[in-house]
Amino acid sequence: MTRGRSVLFFVPDFFAVVSLEPLKFGRRLFFLMLSVLVLAPFKALAKRLAKRPLVYLTWMRDPTTTMMVNWLDADSHSPDYVLYRRLAAPRGSRWTLARGSRHTFADQKKRFVHHVELQSLQPNTEYVFTIRSQGPTRGGQYFRFRTMPKTLPKHLRFVTGGDMMHDRKRVDAMNKRAAELNPWFALLGGDLAYANGNSNEVGKWDDWLESWMLNCIRRGDGGLIPMVVAIGNHEVAGGTGKVPKDAKYFYSLFPLPAKRSFYAMDIGDYLSLIVLDSDHTERVEGEQEAWLDKALSERAGKVPLVYPCYHKPAYGTAKPPADSNDSSKDPLAQKIIKHWCPLFDKYQVTAVFENDHHTYKRTHPLLNNQIDRKRGIVYLGDGCWGVDTRAVPKPGELWYLAKAESKRHLISVTIRDGKPEYVAYEADGKVIDQHS
Ligand SMILES: [Fe+2]
Repeated sequence: MTRGRSVLFFVPDFFAVVSLEPLKFGRRLFFLMLSVLVLAPFKALAKRLAKRPLVYLTWMRDPTTTMMVNWLDADSHSPDYVLYRRLAAPRGSRWTLARGSRHTFADQKKRFVHHVELQSLQPNTEYVFTIRSQGPTRGGQYFRFRTMPKTLPKHLRFVTGGDMMHDRKRVDAMNKRAAELNPWFALLGGDLAYANGNSNEVGKWDDWLESWMLNCIRRGDGGLIPMVVAIGNHEVAGGTGKVPKDAKYFYSLFPLPAKRSFYAMDIGDYLSLIVLDSDHTERVEGEQEAWLDKALSERAGKVPLVYPCYHKPAYGTAKPPADSNDSSKDPLAQKIIKHWCPLFDKYQVTAVFENDHHTYKRTHPLLNNQIDRKRGIVYLGDGCWGVDTRAVPKPGELWYLAKAESKRHLISVTIRDGKPEYVAYEADGKVIDQHS
């Protein structure tokens, strides 16, 4: 859509050239005809692009009985309606109309973000829906999704990764790989569109959302893949040490539980995603640390699968301070090691997902900042869904790394009979690493 957006800007510029030139009649006629021939298709294209809603799914509450349908569009008259029903409902069954709300997208260009939460859904059930319409329409655009199961099934898969889009081609390719794996959802660890909270780069969100909508459709059943998002430095003007208003597009697009960039997403009684903000718009220590302690203590011993996920790594691969190869010595990494990792150890989380370094990594099991093969926690990452890669230390060179590769990947997490298996895939399906 970035290309489409440049077309939008082209139209008024071209008019300006035509009207300001002192032209003789013949030349004027020539330019008039040219403008009709050239601009008409551009105008039609621009109108289509501006009106095409970019649809994406998230959760604010219980993923077994709710679904948040979101879309971004430029139509001030489009109602905040989602019409839906169970896919397996008999022909002629009634549709349910859900109403939601909208707000102006933070780009201030008369665009709107719509949120409609579908509630009281049946768990583990496929639904079909359409947006902006009160009644089913012939030729309308219909989407599917599936609610999460209430109890842990024998086989459950999700995908995770971050650092997604330097260019459209590579994010498309990895999104397609995600769809091939038929995940129930995607846990995205920040640096999504790389718009940097900057108005000159806001079109990257259109590209990113469009890539997700078109490519992240489960191969097995055609369902859209819901996303659970963490914030990264490229969501924020200034990167780190900032506040929510510096990440206006991120907060504008994603309705977050408690309207905060750190939150827990509990799925049934079996899986908790602990999404954290690694100093982008919230501080590592203080309020977030206290919340993390409470969130983990409430779930310890009750929820079998607990996964913290955030952007900047404690045990990174490719951004060491000067005169070192040890990325964990970075000041922000040290802060996470001091304030968060002891809580991961204490409450024995299942594994931790980190991002930001544009590499693949798996650490040895770590406890108390040392290798501990009995009670240690494995940290997986390091954020390279669709971006340029960085170099990694050689095998054995950095004490905490069990595996590191300079490769784009996503991590597939499969819970089979209650046991997690982690497989890192490249976009073409090649396996980089397997761990269980
Ligand atoms: Fe980053």
